[in-house]
Amino acid sequence: MKDNIQEVLISEQALAERIEALGKEITKDYEGKKLLVVGILKGSNIFMSDLVRKIDMPIQLDFMMVSSYGNATASTGVVKIIKDLEQSIDDTHVLIIEDIIDSGLTLKYLKEMLQTRKPASVHICTLLDKPARRKETVDVNYVGFKVPDAFIVGYGIDYAEYYRNLPYVGILKREAYEK
Ligand code: IMP
Ligand code: MG
Repeated sequence: MKDNIQEVLISEQALAERIEALGKEITKDYEGKKLLVVGILKGSNIFMSDLVRKIDMPIQLDFMMVSSYGNATASTGVVKIIKDLEQSIDDTHVLIIEDIIDSGLTLKYLKEMLQTRKPASVHICTLLDKPARRKETVDVNYVGFKVPDAFIVGYGIDYAEYYRNLPYVGILKREAYEK
């Protein structure tokens, strides 16, 4: 697995430090509010489990699973909801947890869709932001790290479902996906 990693971009220690700071910021921003933290499966799973343990207030957790229609090169910006929330979100502050924002299409659609359900607010927290490939402007409230335009894996993020269990974030070697 590690042989296919070209470069470690973000070490385990750097991840832990940044996530602790994000948790503190979120705790301060939402103090006294009803907060539902929504993980987008599967990529945000590992980030979310570390992050929520650094949020020092009562919160609720839920998950959504979405998939883009069509292929990545010709995305329409319409996403299919494979698993929806289990609860209503009216009068609730919603914080979406994402692994990586690339084109921005997924989150733009998801945020607009959740806003129709009359929540108190919908904000976005992403571990990684790849601004070079943005097609849609999305207002991202919390960003862990900005990353270059490369194929990223690890710490929840996959290539063909592999590499999610790497403890750090790395760049996948081209030869590992261009065969
Ligand atoms: P977008 O912002 O709608 O283009 O989609 C973001 C999603 O694409 C993320 O949740 C990932 O699942 C996937 N993705 C984007 N960039 C990468 C990458 O570098 N490695 C692995 N998955 C990625
Ligand atoms: Mg994803």
